[in-house]
Amino acid sequence: MDTDPRFRALLPAPSAQVDLAALYAYPAALDRPWVRCNMVSSADGGAWGPSGRTAELSSPADRRVMGVLRGLCDVVLAGAATARIEGYRPVRPREVWGRLREGRPDTPSVAVVTRTLDVHPDLLAGAPGDAPTLVFTTADAPEGRVRAAKDAGAEVVVAGDRSVEPAAAVRALAERGLYRVLCEGGPHLLAEFTAAGLVDEVCLTTSPHLLGPAASRIVAGDAPSHTADLRLEHLLESEGTLFSRYTRA
Ligand SMILES: NC(=O)c1ccc[n+]([C@@H]2O[C@H](COP(=O)([O-])OP(=O)(O)OC[C@H]3O[C@@H](n4cnc5c(N)ncnc54)[C@H](OP(=O)(O)O)[C@@H]3O)[C@@H](O)[C@H]2O)c1
Repeated sequence: MDTDPRFRALLPAPSAQVDLAALYAYPAALDRPWVRCNMVSSADGGAWGPSGRTAELSSPADRRVMGVLRGLCDVVLAGAATARIEGYRPVRPREVWGRLREGRPDTPSVAVVTRTLDVHPDLLAGAPGDAPTLVFTTADAPEGRVRAAKDAGAEVVVAGDRSVEPAAAVRALAERGLYRVLCEGGPHLLAEFTAAGLVDEVCLTTSPHLLGPAASRIVAGDAPSHTADLRLEHLLESEGTLFSRYTRA
């Protein structure tokens, strides 16, 4: 057990012994991809701060949880706007992951969903051979950019005609044995995955800030609204920030 004294558990039972890797472990013996989403929200439901990024909502404790979630997953899935705005690059290995990645590549792959393939060249070219960047795109994606992405070493997967279909993306992850999926948003991509009924788990950081009405919610866009019940698995706290983990009921 590797406990982190900065956190305390509030639910399902109060405890000062918080082992993040154990609490966030994916279900054992998965036979299909398990899609976990990790998002941060302000207390009034905002998904990004005045800078247009999530930095203002994050904290050392949030980054710690995010780091553990990345260490546990096989693939980090993100929409291209998040990749562009948050400056996504291939995930760097971390010493603290220790045994978390035993028997797996040192880092998870990054999978980016995009029609334009307008993502930073380093995200396409800089990934290790055993964890290449995956680009989920459409049949009508710009040919030159598709070629450039492949030449840079990324794996380009056509997962829809004019729009990437979430189910096709998840099937492609399954074909590659990438079962432990960590979807890091953004709100538009998350809305599409929730509308498709493909989200198994939501990890939500609630940060002690108010943002007002300018920021989006953690789901946004035109995907159809729907109702899905969730079950609260745990609630943690660190310096006023709450960390809840929900699974599909
Ligand atoms: N609060 C949080 O936890 C959190 C998490 C992540 C991001 N964010 C914030 O959210 C913002 C970005 O999120 P966002 O919701 O605007 O965008 P997003 O979901 O990250 O990305 C949208 C983009 O992804 C691509 N895309 C999405 N669905 C697609 C589909 N079905 N087929 C093909 N391509 C598809 C398109 O890329 P192309 O334009 O390349 O075609 C689209 O423009 C940033 O401000 C970021 O800081 C917040």
